[in-house]
Amino acid sequence: MKKTSENLKTEIPGPKSKGMIELREKYVPRGVFNTVPAFIEKAKDSLITDIDGNTFIDFASGLATVNVGHSRKEITEALRVQIEKYLHTCFHVFMYEPYVRLAEKLAEITPGNFPKKTILVNSGAEAVENAIKVSRYFTKRKSVITFEHAFHGRTLLTMTLTSKLRYYKLGFGPFAPEVYRMPYAYPYRCPFGSDYSNCAVACLDHFKSFFKTHVDPEEVAAVIVEPVTGEGGFIVPPPEFLPGIARICKENGIVFIVDEVQTGFGRTGEMFAVNHYNLEPDIMVMGKSIAAGLPLGAVTGKAEIMNAPEVGSLGGTFGGNPLSCVASLKVIEIMQEEGFMEHARRVGELINERLKNMHEKYYIIGDARGLGAMAAIELVKDRVTKEPAKEEAAEVIKQCYKNGLVIMKAGVYDNVVRLLVPLIIDEGLLLRGLDILEKAVRAVNKGYSSKKKA
Ligand SMILES: Cc1ncc(COP(=O)(O)O)c(C=O)c1O
Repeated sequence: MKKTSENLKTEIPGPKSKGMIELREKYVPRGVFNTVPAFIEKAKDSLITDIDGNTFIDFASGLATVNVGHSRKEITEALRVQIEKYLHTCFHVFMYEPYVRLAEKLAEITPGNFPKKTILVNSGAEAVENAIKVSRYFTKRKSVITFEHAFHGRTLLTMTLTSKLRYYKLGFGPFAPEVYRMPYAYPYRCPFGSDYSNCAVACLDHFKSFFKTHVDPEEVAAVIVEPVTGEGGFIVPPPEFLPGIARICKENGIVFIVDEVQTGFGRTGEMFAVNHYNLEPDIMVMGKSIAAGLPLGAVTGKAEIMNAPEVGSLGGTFGGNPLSCVASLKVIEIMQEEGFMEHARRVGELINERLKNMHEKYYIIGDARGLGAMAAIELVKDRVTKEPAKEEAAEVIKQCYKNGLVIMKAGVYDNVVRLLVPLIIDEGLLLRGLDILEKAVRAVNKGYSSKKKA
């Protein structure tokens, strides 16, 4: 069997993974997408080993769920202790302490020095659904404003809020009513053709006509926004954008919901991305890395808003299950330890420096952008027309896993390669992973190397 690097024992997929892929194809629908054609045996920190003995550097973190790294000892130990006590009683039936302790902790770590309350659910999508439910009940209004390039989940309402058609919405309509969509400040492809310094202003200005032509602000219950788009391609809006939205919400009695499912828990170099802008959302939605890979979503918001729905109107059977709560409490403890966030910031700096350097070198990289360790490159066939290089992005992903690096794509045009490294990754491993990425980019850039950089 051909060996492609020192950590790889077989080609990817190896023979055991090939066998499992056959079974997967027989019993799991194709709609459930996969990135790497291999099956995991075990994972530790920033490394994943597959069932054929191949070891990969992980630049995807289980789709942003293990910011603290795979299989942390502290977390598995806390889970073991919890497993031995009880697994589940359902919070609606018999209450348990970890749920309340986590609600207390989330009130402490989310921005805003006001009373807060939290509901715990099973996923990011369910958290978004509940944030909207609560906002509607509180404001007695029906409409919701979302943004282009948004991703909020795959349930009916969250799919409606989402902005990418293929493969998230196409064929799955009809969608939920009373959802309105604004442009998102995307400096590289400014919807108003503005340059970086005016891109956010142009979007914010658009609210004025939007409130005349699409929906009256008095009918709007909530605006929901990602501080950096996740599945939408890691678009980092100019710094005026989010504070501008917060101001518009405040002026119009609209609940300002920030979706920190992908940006949260250290990903951008702060516990939450809104910390970069000193913003205090009315409601914050969390998920993914909140519980180190266990299923958990959270909705934390101003107590008066969260308390509006009457007794019995919020919840679910498994929402905030004890194991997820225990894991989440440990995640927060780890992230509050000295040095954690500093390291996360250093990782972000190293990545962004390297991506900017690659942008200088390779024509095919039209844009390199990031906030902390939430960083990406956007590939284009032409730097002037900015025609998305979708196939080339897919090829980069493939070359990466074939050489032992797990990395994912994103973006409405499927032309963004995004980095979601575990925040605890050591520098040596990070640089090795970046080398593999650069090699893959260099290979797809070959056909473009004679083009002049714009
Ligand atoms: C910003 C954002 N919101 C919501 C979701 C949905 O989370 P889940 O897949 O846990 O339902 C995601 C998932 O990628 C996300 O990135």
